Amino acid sequence: MKALILSGGKGTRLRPLTYTGAKQLVPVANKPILWYGIESIVAAGITDIGIIISPETGEEVKAKTGNGDLFGAKITYILQDKPAGLAHAVKVAQPFLGDSPFVMYLGDNLVQSDLRLFLENFHANSLDALTLLCPVANPSAFGVARVDEQGRLLQLIEKPKDPPSNLALVGIYIFSHTIHKAIASIQPSARGELEITDAIQALIEQQRAVEARQIRGWWLDTGKKDDLLEANRVILDTCLEAAIHGEVDGTSQVSGRVQIGKGSRIINSTIRGPVIIGENCHIENCFIGPYSSIANDVTVTNTDLDHSVLLQGAKVLNIHHRIVDSLIGQRAQLKEAPQRPKALRFMIGDDSQIEIS
Ligand code: DAU
Repeated sequence: MKALILSGGKGTRLRPLTYTGAKQLVPVANKPILWYGIESIVAAGITDIGIIISPETGEEVKAKTGNGDLFGAKITYILQDKPAGLAHAVKVAQPFLGDSPFVMYLGDNLVQSDLRLFLENFHANSLDALTLLCPVANPSAFGVARVDEQGRLLQLIEKPKDPPSNLALVGIYIFSHTIHKAIASIQPSARGELEITDAIQALIEQQRAVEARQIRGWWLDTGKKDDLLEANRVILDTCLEAAIHGEVDGTSQVSGRVQIGKGSRIINSTIRGPVIIGENCHIENCFIGPYSSIANDVTVTNTDLDHSVLLQGAKVLNIHHRIVDSLIGQRAQLKEAPQRPKALRFMIGDDSQIEIS
């Protein structure tokens, strides 16, 4: 059994962060989203992993993730020269996959479920495809499944305007080698992509053994800012372990589950968990409230914030208002004048969003 993780694509919905980096490397609770997928695949006993990368962000994914030693796996990087669709990525990976059955995992998805049960199911029933489904409030944003009363898969439609059910396709699929022939039989969709949903639909029409299971627990597609903040909240809530390696001075208070990395200093501040603070951060005269993730080398002074994600090297200085629901990019700087400002001065990149409320 092999695994194929898709970490190419354009990441347009997370711009401007994804102008300079891969969306799959954006951290959730200070760990790249992609790494959660790798860990879950390795936990299910699969260690031969191919990762699809794009020409724009592939080098960064490779440099950060490495050859697999970090995870006890062997990683092979596979370049997809253009984001021509999920099924196109499988086509490009065929020399790596050979005739092996494989798990396909979208690198921007996070799920709580253990993959082992689904793999057992796939093998025990000699399936050609096993898809995972999850009820959602906005099915039009996903691939959607039509199932019969017994839960058998009848049809899959990619981002339908008029969804036949509320069951979205989760970005994790298990396939036998028969998927390659199905992919060879499909044409690009209206949006110009080779869709994996069309390939699975082709398997259904050929009466192949295709089944679906509903996942239990949470599933998060981290495509947009609010999804990412929600993923951060859920991971901090469920997975964060308290550990203080940095320095907390006598005038500071730390309560709840809080992780503070080495070399970080907390001065005259209140940290109320769940909160993760990386290494070599400087936090002074602040309130850092629940569901905040602060990456390495961040400075925050004279500021209150909660439910926010600050990426590596960001500086938030003397903002005397509360910052909430915010995502602040790598090395971004946010500072306010010591007195009530007479004017606001900005240098804001394309597609940034600033809300002064
Ligand atoms: O998240 C679940 C959804 O993922 C499913 O419900 C949909 O059926 C499925 O088509 C997919 O939809 P998205 O619009 O979310 O796919 P996206 O373009 O965001 O790509 C998913 C991942 O695959 C992402 O990590 C980028 C990568 N990718 C994407 C394309 C189009 C590639 O590596 N190569 C590609 O050509």
